[in-house]
Amino acid sequence: MPVSIVIGSQWGDEGKGKIVDLLSPEVDVVARYQGGANAGHTIVWENEDGSTEEFVLHLVPSGIFHEGVTCVIGNGVVLDPKAVMEEIEKIESLGIDVDGRLKISHNAHLIMPYHKAIEAAQEEERASASDDDEIGTTGRGIGPAYTDKFARTGIRVVDLLDEDALRRKLRRSLEEKNAILRDIYDAEALDVDRIVEEYVEFDQKIDPYVTDTSKYLSETLNDGGRVLAEGAQGSLLDVDFGSYPYVTSSHPTAGGCCTGLGVSPTAIDRVLGIAKAYCTRVGNGPFPTELENEAGERLRRKGDEFGATTGRPRRCGWLDLVALRYTSMINGFSELAITKLDILSGMESLKVCTQYRYDGKTTRRFPSEPQSLERVEPIYETLPGWDEDISDVRRVENLPLEARDYLAFIAEVLDVEIGLVSNGPRRDQIITDVQPMAAA
Ligand code: IMP
Repeated sequence: MPVSIVIGSQWGDEGKGKIVDLLSPEVDVVARYQGGANAGHTIVWENEDGSTEEFVLHLVPSGIFHEGVTCVIGNGVVLDPKAVMEEIEKIESLGIDVDGRLKISHNAHLIMPYHKAIEAAQEEERASASDDDEIGTTGRGIGPAYTDKFARTGIRVVDLLDEDALRRKLRRSLEEKNAILRDIYDAEALDVDRIVEEYVEFDQKIDPYVTDTSKYLSETLNDGGRVLAEGAQGSLLDVDFGSYPYVTSSHPTAGGCCTGLGVSPTAIDRVLGIAKAYCTRVGNGPFPTELENEAGERLRRKGDEFGATTGRPRRCGWLDLVALRYTSMINGFSELAITKLDILSGMESLKVCTQYRYDGKTTRRFPSEPQSLERVEPIYETLPGWDEDISDVRRVENLPLEARDYLAFIAEVLDVEIGLVSNGPRRDQIITDVQPMAAA
């Protein structure tokens, strides 16, 4: 098992952080390959006195809580240096040693203050436009940073090493950005010297972590080490495969792992898809199985469905197997982990979308283009629910029959094995003996 990938199979917030935390002791390295501080990966653990503690990671990979695991922020990530330094300090305040255990790619692009300023101005303008096409981003400057990367005008971690070159690049970039801010969005211009000062200071702090991470990963793999690639966001937010433009600006899907870390596809032998037992989406864009009623409200309340990064309420809905079949096709999931199954307890019946109706015809195709996806009507199968609180169950045989049937139904429709079931936020709330749920 040289490289395993953990991938969000829906619209993000599937509970990837917990699964990465769970699998970390089995690997040598955990590596983030895309996205940035827009992610919020929550780890919850129980103290000896029974109290629980929670930590939300935005940039540092979720393996950091396991001694002996090295964490990598790969070249595909857009790095907010301020956010990463604050996160490192917070982790260290828990008594966890980050030094020597975190490596940051010298090729990763940096989030600059103008990325956030431009994004805020763009979103404000989209919201006030007559067709109101605001994306509902996390406001972390992700889109504008990737825009600069692909326009070849971005500033990378390696650029921090040379103050004069940094000043030169920044001056050129800011001329353009300030014109955009001032002339197009009527916003305040930014000052080059202040940014250089701030970023040079980051350099001194970040320097010990910076390295050629793809070389490090290659050496680790050649020495027989194992790597877990931690996806951020979800496959339905992929810039190519999601409902563009209501997507993030990177590739949360399996392919992103190769380009975002510099590892070969032939090194990947496990693609673990993470799916919530129902669906949520934060931000705008089509969501066929959305419940804008009491059932949706109940899922949000019971599932504590509020964004880990922005605190925004998440939109909630029934499980969508048309969407999951699509992301399974793109990623080639070798198995699935189903999370938050406990949240469904107490519902008399459960609906699962297995097909869409589109233009009067039934279809199993997921049309990712929003103009079609907005028009599909979900066709549901109704399965019986269960009453029991299942959050203390540790063996699959102790789940209510209806819960096992629900899992078996998912595995059968998708033709993918379910390898893990998470039934609570804590580390110990996990069912690993799920083999009977294997696809028929
Ligand atoms: P951005 O990634 O901040 O540009 O936001 C683009 C879209 O992706 C918005 O709908 C966000 O709400 C969504 N998004 C970004 N990161 C996450 C995440 O970690 N979880 C869930 N949704 C996300």
